[in-house]
Order: sequence, then structure tokens, then C-alpha cells
Amino acid sequence: MADTPGIEALYSRIAKAELGPVAEETGRIEELADGLAHISGLPGAALNEIVTFASGARGFVLNLDEEMLQAAFLDSMEGSEAGDLVTRTGQLLSVPVGEGLLGRVVDPLGRPLDDLGPIKAGARYETERPAPEIIERDFVTEPVQTGLLVVDALFAVGRGQRELIVGERGTGKTAMAVDAIINQKDSDIVCVYVAIGQRTTAVRRVIEAVREKGAIARTIFVVAPASAEPGLRWLAPFAATAMAEAVRDGGGHALIVYDDLTKHAAVHRELALLSRQPPGREAYPGDIFYLHARLLERSAKLSAAKGGGSLTALPIAEIEAGNLSAYIPTNLISIADGQIVTSAALFAANQRPAVDIGLSVSRVGGKAQRGALRAVAGRVRLEYAQYLEMKMFSRFGGFADGAMKARLVRGERIGALLAQPRFEPVDTVSQIALLAGLAEGLLDPLAPEQIAELRRTLAPLVAADAKIGAFRTAPDDLSDDVRAHLLDTVREAISRLGGGGA
Ligand SMILES: Nc1ncnc2c1ncn2[C@@H]1O[C@H](COP(=O)(O)OP(=O)(O)O)[C@@H](O)[C@H]1O
Ligand SMILES: [Mg+2]
Repeated sequence: MADTPGIEALYSRIAKAELGPVAEETGRIEELADGLAHISGLPGAALNEIVTFASGARGFVLNLDEEMLQAAFLDSMEGSEAGDLVTRTGQLLSVPVGEGLLGRVVDPLGRPLDDLGPIKAGARYETERPAPEIIERDFVTEPVQTGLLVVDALFAVGRGQRELIVGERGTGKTAMAVDAIINQKDSDIVCVYVAIGQRTTAVRRVIEAVREKGAIARTIFVVAPASAEPGLRWLAPFAATAMAEAVRDGGGHALIVYDDLTKHAAVHRELALLSRQPPGREAYPGDIFYLHARLLERSAKLSAAKGGGSLTALPIAEIEAGNLSAYIPTNLISIADGQIVTSAALFAANQRPAVDIGLSVSRVGGKAQRGALRAVAGRVRLEYAQYLEMKMFSRFGGFADGAMKARLVRGERIGALLAQPRFEPVDTVSQIALLAGLAEGLLDPLAPEQIAELRRTLAPLVAADAKIGAFRTAPDDLSDDVRAHLLDTVREAISRLGGGGA
């Protein structure tokens, strides 16, 4: 009995008890819209906080007003109705990160969509994270080799760069990004492909291509198809970025493909309109620019003090009727460090990848290009642009004189060299050899059809070449010796072409 607290002790506990208003941790659904709930009575809730609905479904806080908040559903809203209780969890949205995700297909919450069992998570990252500060960054000086000659030679992408791929539907935007992923199968770069609002069959084709070409073990797929809740589609790029950041922060290198951000902008607009935010230009809410700027700022090259890791982004945007100046594409163009513009006309004319040389630009990549590649690629863009212009004129009459004819011949060879079937990446040394050969005039006697064959014939010769030595791993300095040797290899490859090479 001596242990029982006396009446005095109870009184003193009551005296010490803090009385006063206590924040309510349960709210109520006031109204439901497609994938979104208007909720009253959760004054302490934070943006991105996970809430639980009476039905068992989860959602996250998307907007906070003075009276109400809006939460997007992460699970089906079936079974929820107005009047249902909503509970705060105190937890912000986060995803598993780490090596356990490699080769996996997950949804934007990191839940497996393949049948390979649970994800072994190293740690968890919040989906919304601040971008590295300026002082934590370093210059972009190393390339991401995409294996696509038109990109690596003319619009090189550096580690830490954001390069937009923009063009009409069906012009090979996804194909280029997938080729870039496949080219990392033997590199030190981890790839994250995030599919936003696409048909499931299209996503499956991408995954199968990456698997078949042997790059799946270095790739993470984050998928929120068109059929997924709007909240999941909204979350997808942020979740995928967190997974890629874990690679970057560990001192590693990651490449993320957002396919695509026009669809992400559309779901942001959909949720904003349902939240009754004031619509701005093209009915997008005023924060759409900031949303994507914040997302893409997270791609960066980190300083040595921060581990030297990098995150490179290839966001994709779709335009209609060639209208590059639509609102979302112009936003993304101004956020990114350059754009690769695909053209429906070039695609139709079988110039694939259908990169529009005049409209595309890489604002940092040239500095990140391998020195030897830069040395041989320097004049190609200008020569090709001049050729395209000349071709227009030469159509009006046969006034091509000797010098002009030579440039037309050269230009046509460049076009053939820059065209590349899917899944046939060209290694860096072959790229250098081909461009050196071009400048030397070795390709001029070839028929354009033979140039594709040359690429295939050259690759094994370069791969087996013991003389290249250190140049293979660091093709920075193109000495006269190396150049002469590469030209010999190209001559050798040409001599093996069907039809004798001339
Ligand atoms: N370099 C290429 N060579 C041949 N076919 C290609 C090439 N790039 C794309 N394609 C084909 O063109 C079609 C459209 O490509 P896709 O990448 O899906 O376009 P987008 O993403 O711009 O809508 C696909 O069937 C694809 O296989
Ligand atoms: Mg596509």
C-alpha cells in the first residue's frame, strides 16, 4: 500500500498538467474530387505529410490553405466519402534508396511492381529534398557518353548537366534516352528511368529493351502509368530523383530520364484545378515553373569535398505541331542547360535520331567532351549546317561547281554518319576514328549506305586493337601518332566493306 500514490501526489500532478488547446490530429474529408480530398481540421499538417483515410487508403498533403488542406490519394479513393475521418501520420513522403533498387521496377513509393520480392532498402530519402548549394557544386567537366554520335559529337552531355529532349510525339525522344541508358551497361553510371503518365505497354517495351541489351542491372525503373492515381503520377519524378540522389551523394554517378515532364505538368495542372488554385497561363497554376526548376536543380556535379558524385538529367518534353514556344516546353528549355530538338520532318525522311541541328544546343557539354572527340568534332556541326543550306539551293538548279559539289558530298556523308539505328551505340574511340576519317576525306568515296556498315565493321577492329592502349580509357589527347593509327584502322575497315569500299 505504501507504493500507491497519495491524494497529494495526484493533486500535484494535476497542478502540473498543461491545460490548453491541443492541436487536433484528426480531420475530416469535406469534399472529394478525382484523386484529391479537401480536408478540414488538420491545422498542424505539413506539406508532403502522409495522411491516412478511414478507408485505409493513404494520401499526402499537396496544398495548405487557411481553412482547408488538399491531399492527393496514393491508393484508390474507392471506399472513401465525405465525412470520413483523416489522420495525420507525422511522416513526410519518402522512398527506399540504395543498391537494392538496381534492376527493379517500382512505383513512386518504392513498392515493387515486378515479381522479384520486397525491396532491400539501404536507407530512406524524403522525396522533396533541397538542391545542392552553389558552394557544394563543381564545374561539369566529364561527359556522359550516350553512344549516339549526333549527341556525343555535337551536343555532348556532361555529368551534372540537364539536357532537355524535346519534340513531337513519335520522333524518337524515348528511343534516344533509352539508347543513352543502354550505353551505360559497362560504365560507372547508374540510370533511373521514370515513366510518368504513359501507357503500360510503352513502359514495358522500354524495360524489355534495357533488359535485352544487358543494362538492367544498372537501371532503376520508377513507373506511374496513365492509370495510376494522379497523386502517384505527380510524385513520380520527385521519388525517382531521390533514388538517383542517393547515388550522387554516395560519390557515384547517376543519369535520370524523366519521360515526360509535359505529362507531369498536366497532372500538376489537374490537381491544382481540383484544389481550386487560380489558373494562370494555359490554365497551369503559377508555381509550375518553380516546381520543375526545383526538381531539375537537384541534378548537379558535386564538389570533391562533397564526394564528387554527379546527377545528370535528361528530361523529355512533348510538343504539338512543332510548337516549341508552348508554355511548358519554353519553361523547361529555360531551366535546362540545353535542348536536343527532334524533328518530325527529319524522322519522316529517315534521318534518325531526328535531331534538328539548328535548334539544338548544349550549353555546357562541349567543355565536358573528351579532348580527342572535341578535336575531331569541332567543324562537323558547321559543315553539316552549311550542307543543309546548300542542299536547299542546289535543288533549284544544277549549278554546283567543284568546291560546292565536294561540300555536298561531305555533308551527305555527315548525315549518313549521324544517322544511327536504335540499339547500336558507338564507343568513344570509334566515334573519334570515324570523325577523323571524315575530316581526312576517307568517307567521301563511300555510298551513304556503306557508312552504317563501316560503323559495324570498325567497332570490332577498335575493340581488338591493342595499340590504342591508354587512349581507350582516357581519349583526351589526340596525338599525331594516335590519329594516324586510327585513320589506318578506318582504312582497314573500309577495305573490308562489301563492294570493296569505293
Ligand atoms: N534511331 C531510330 N532508328 C529507327 N527507328 C527508330 C529510331 N528511333 C526511334 N525509332 C522508332 O520510332 C518510333 C517512335 O519512337 P519513340 O522513341 O517512341 O518516340 P517519342 O518518344 O518521341 O514519342 C518507335 O517505334 C521507335 O522504335
Ligand atoms: Mg516517348
